[in-house]
Amino acid sequence: MSEASSPSSAASGTATPRVFSGIQPTAGSFHLGNYLGALRQWIAMQDTHEAFYCVVDMHAITVAYDPAALRVRSRVSAAQLLAMGLDQDRSTLFLQSHVPEHAELAWVLGSLTGFGEAGRMTQFKDKSAKQGTSGTTVGLFTYPVLQAADILLYSPEPGEGERDLRVPVGEDQRQHLELTRTLAQRFNHRFGDTFVVPEAHIPAGAAKITDLQDPTAKMSKSASSPQGIVDVLEDPGPMRKKIMRAVTDTGTDVRYDEENKAGVTNLLRIFSALEGTPVADLEGRYAGTGYGQFKKDLAQVVLDTFTPIRERTHKLLADEQELDRLLAQGADRASQVAARTMEIVRDRVGFVGRGR
Ligand code: TRP
Repeated sequence: MSEASSPSSAASGTATPRVFSGIQPTAGSFHLGNYLGALRQWIAMQDTHEAFYCVVDMHAITVAYDPAALRVRSRVSAAQLLAMGLDQDRSTLFLQSHVPEHAELAWVLGSLTGFGEAGRMTQFKDKSAKQGTSGTTVGLFTYPVLQAADILLYSPEPGEGERDLRVPVGEDQRQHLELTRTLAQRFNHRFGDTFVVPEAHIPAGAAKITDLQDPTAKMSKSASSPQGIVDVLEDPGPMRKKIMRAVTDTGTDVRYDEENKAGVTNLLRIFSALEGTPVADLEGRYAGTGYGQFKKDLAQVVLDTFTPIRERTHKLLADEQELDRLLAQGADRASQVAARTMEIVRDRVGFVGRGR
């Protein structure tokens, strides 16, 4: 049954590695750092992996938030992913809350997680330090356990190809992935081999993009000023302005030098990734022209990339019924895999099967 449920297990026997990743719908738009650091690779991996991609709306409620904004942002997030090239015929895109097994498996895994073990998660320590004890929720504490459940639900069953489960994530998620691996091993050890131990996957071509105003810091919604971030859905005018006003360095050379020219180096990385031109070629092209022409051309490349994505996103959002239909399609496919995994898990942990 689960064989017919997923796009590429139709080609059963061929070892298509499975990939799972998630992104929070916490902003009104994704940004250039999300795009070059992760999302572009999600798109590419549709063709080499059996891919499951999840907008993790349940993770988004672990901190203070507005329900109406969450609803908008979840749809905007999904629409942007589709506009960037995610395709329900080649992968499975869904909203986490549409597949309640995520919460159910999180409960089981939470009962295998030590209190101290969860307390050692540095992201929890950082976030809870900012919120104070009264503002810190139990949901924020168990956030990494829900993340482990997200991933392990899509663990391929024995006999399903190579039983390979890859998770493309950035450096900041390494500890959460380590916990996921520990929980998979612990479950297998106590209850019998059930989960594939997933691998962190740093995708080829992922580029680390830094803040346009502070090029030594990562481009990030929580840390950067608006001037330091280029949003995917931003209007062309402000988009161009932000690139033109990006911090460069003293001197006039367009030269890749992480240590002494962090600003220009970041812009070269963006240019190279978006245009597909090696950095050395760009250095040659802009030898002696100064920063002005370089930035002007880069702004055009950024606009050429994001304009069609912005337009497709708005088109998708204009037909909410169709967008919701596409998401239901993803949820149906994800549910079939998740339901099968939970059947096995319930049995292994000793729950009585429901009679018919
Ligand atoms: N915690 C991840 C982040 O902030 C988002 C996430 C939730 C995720 N569940 C996941 C990423 C499962 C990979 C796999 O980036």
